[in-house]
Amino acid sequence: MRPYLLLRAAELAAERPAGSTEDVHFTEALAASVIEDTTAVGDVVLDPFAGYGTTLAVATRLGRAAVGVELLAERVERITARTAGRATVVHGDARNLSELLELHGRPVGSIDLVLTSPPYMTSVDHPENPLTGYTTDDGDYATYLRELGVVFAQVASLLRVGGHAVVNVANLATGDVVTPLAWDVGRVVSEHLSFRGETFLCWDEHPPGHAGDYLLWFRHT
Ligand SMILES: C[S@@+](CC[C@H](N)C(=O)[O-])C[C@H]1O[C@@H](n2cnc3c(N)ncnc32)[C@H](O)[C@@H]1O
Repeated sequence: MRPYLLLRAAELAAERPAGSTEDVHFTEALAASVIEDTTAVGDVVLDPFAGYGTTLAVATRLGRAAVGVELLAERVERITARTAGRATVVHGDARNLSELLELHGRPVGSIDLVLTSPPYMTSVDHPENPLTGYTTDDGDYATYLRELGVVFAQVASLLRVGGHAVVNVANLATGDVVTPLAWDVGRVVSEHLSFRGETFLCWDEHPPGHAGDYLLWFRHT
């Protein structure tokens, strides 16, 4: 586990898919660093919040098997095209992760690495629900954290013993208020997996609204 990674905002912008206005992804360099440090060729990498498919694209390029779950159909199509059909991309809700993976031949204990970044939420001024793709206004921070716990409980059972889970998450600034999202997600995931430490993501230009950006490292012991 590296204490910090240097990241460039221009690299993130250059990797943003055509037609997209949101930087809801991490960089390919970040994904490659984690995947190379924790897995070998032929291992299975899972992203339960697959987004634009950065984890899956880099994993397949490095000779790993890749599986992802994504709620939004348009992003599922994007990932399928980006990975040229070499990854398993499941259109569904990560809150049903175990069932979805079982249906696609990935049972309990079959995953070597989970590399993911959940959809973010602030503790104030945030009625949109991250876990419905921000499409409903029933957002509630405590419920959101509890439901992330439901996802990571399933992540823990899907990981083989000794497997890693690496979560990219930032603390978020809204005016003067900072939501300690990284600390809250860390606590939630720690209920299911053993916390091993963090990598500080050192941006040349800080992403707007981020107070501090991290990789949180966990292991299924
Ligand atoms: C922060 S983005 C992940 C970006 C990804 N790491 C990348 O680099 O491309 C979070 C993703 O989770 C998806 N999502 C939100 N709720 C979900 C749910 N309940 N089940 C599965 N995916 C969900 C969002 O649509 C979004 O694409």
